[in-house]
Amino acid sequence: MANARMAADLLAWYDRAARRMPWRVPPGARLAGVRPDPYHVWLSEVMLQQTTVAAVKGYFERFVTRWPTVSDLAAAEDEEVMAAWAGLGYYARARNLLKCARVVAREHGGRFPGTGAGLRALPGIGAYTSAAIAAIAFDRPDTVLDGNVERVIARLRAVREPLPGVKERLRALAAELTPDDRPGDYAQAIMDLGATICVPRRPACGICPWLDDCAGRALGVAADLPLKAPKAAKPVRLGIAYLAVRTDGAVLVERRPDSGLLGGMLGLPGGAWGDAAEAAPPFAADWRPLDAEARHTFTHFHLRLRLMGATVPADAPGDYRPRGEAAAAMPTVMRKALRLGLDAFEA
Ligand code: ADE
Repeated sequence: MANARMAADLLAWYDRAARRMPWRVPPGARLAGVRPDPYHVWLSEVMLQQTTVAAVKGYFERFVTRWPTVSDLAAAEDEEVMAAWAGLGYYARARNLLKCARVVAREHGGRFPGTGAGLRALPGIGAYTSAAIAAIAFDRPDTVLDGNVERVIARLRAVREPLPGVKERLRALAAELTPDDRPGDYAQAIMDLGATICVPRRPACGICPWLDDCAGRALGVAADLPLKAPKAAKPVRLGIAYLAVRTDGAVLVERRPDSGLLGGMLGLPGGAWGDAAEAAPPFAADWRPLDAEARHTFTHFHLRLRLMGATVPADAPGDYRPRGEAAAAMPTVMRKALRLGLDAFEA
């Protein structure tokens, strides 16, 4: 069967070329019977959604050092976890991470369910993450489909309909290839192939274990695939961030509401973002516009935040933090606003 032979070829390549990652059990150790810790697999896969391996490594290591088991994480304070996540982006993932840890600790005795269906019932775990955990942690033949795998499969089978519409077809083609033998290593192997050889712009077809099987390569179209439907241009939203600096240098911070963008994260006060930069200050003070604008691009829009600043007395109302501590706990956009605001303030 061609599919079984192809899976074996990919696994043989993985045995030589597997990337090392702090959460990964390398193929040799796996063969010797070492099993991955499902907590590590889950945590890494949630962190890796929309974020690169390089960006995740440090966060992963800090999390497992501080919270060695899912039950330790479940017992953490929300604020500690949100602060440890700060900078990774997509903060709803961090809130769901904590919800999920608490369900696993309370309702499953600290052990992750071992099937795709059991995993999908947990907060924050969708089709991709459940398949990745079922395959990698429990060696179940579930099919993982992330952006890397979509690209590999579209090229391998020369699929020329555009994403996202063609996603389910790619999933079915990927499933046909998923082996019953070593499905956990296979899942990691196909993701590594997409990340290191079958890369977006200049695939290194010459060293690909699937070179002779690749229809995209045979037709000379591999580098052009997958096709993607054009995306709508992102709108620009405007907002204001208020930087109150106390006479001892501490800055005013505000915890954002739990729901919505950056929910539960620490930020500068400033109200809603929209078509105009308008928001009432947190309290009356001698606010002046700072010569600073923080720009940040989110998934669905570009944001421009104007900075207003004021020096405030020691008894001003609100939650003040030393600036280093405030920055460390903030999401990237707020860190930018704080830094630009302080630079302009002191200029
Ligand atoms: N990207 C996301 N998860 C991955 C994994 N487990 N192996 C390789 N690349 C990945």
